[in-house]
Amino acid sequence: MQEKRVREMRSQIVAKNIVLIGFMGVGKGTVARELAKQSQMFAIDCDDLIESLENRKIKTIFEENGEEYFRELEKKTANWLEKSVKNSIVSTGGGFFKVKNLNKIGVVIYLESSFDGILNRIKSSENAQKKLAKRPLLQDLKKGKTLFNKRVFEYEKKADIVINVENKSPNEIAKEIIDSLKERR
Ligand code: S3P
Repeated sequence: MQEKRVREMRSQIVAKNIVLIGFMGVGKGTVARELAKQSQMFAIDCDDLIESLENRKIKTIFEENGEEYFRELEKKTANWLEKSVKNSIVSTGGGFFKVKNLNKIGVVIYLESSFDGILNRIKSSENAQKKLAKRPLLQDLKKGKTLFNKRVFEYEKKADIVINVENKSPNEIAKEIIDSLKERR
C-alpha cells in the first residue's frame, strides 16, 4: 500500500514541488512532514531556511530588523526554491504566498481553516505557549484575526488546490492532498 502511494505521488509530481500555504498555525509544517512520510519525498520549511540563512530565529529577525526585511528574505528564499529545489514538499510561512513566483515553485495547496479552528489547534497542542510566542504577528489575537480575514481570499486566489483541514488528522489531510493531485492528472 505504501509503495503504491509512493509511486502514485512520484508519477503525479515528476519534477514539481508541492507548496503548502495557509495561515499561521494551520499545520503546514506538520502536514508537510506527514506528506514526506507517505511519499518518501523530502520536506523543507521556508522559515527554517530563513533562520539558517540568518542564523537567528524569526522572532529575533522581526525584533531586530522588522517585517519588511523579513519579507525580503522570503523573496530571496522563493528565488532559491524556484531555481534549485525539485520534487520536494515545501511548507511556507503564513505570509510567503505574496512572493511573485509562488506558482513557479510548484503546485500550490492552500490548507484552509476558520480562525477559531486554528486557535483551537494551537491551544490544544502540548506547547501552546511556545507556538504563540514564536509568532510575532499572533501576539495580539484581535490583530491576528483582522490579518486572517484579509488574507483568506488572497490564499484562495493563489491556490491550485484548496484542502479544508478543520478537525482532520495530518494523516487524513495528506491522503486528501495526494488524492486531489491524482484527480488533476
Ligand atoms: C508569518 C507566519 C510565520 C512566519 C512569520 C510571519 C505571517 O510562519 O513566517 O512569523 O506573516 O503569517 P507560520 O505560518 O509557520 O506561523
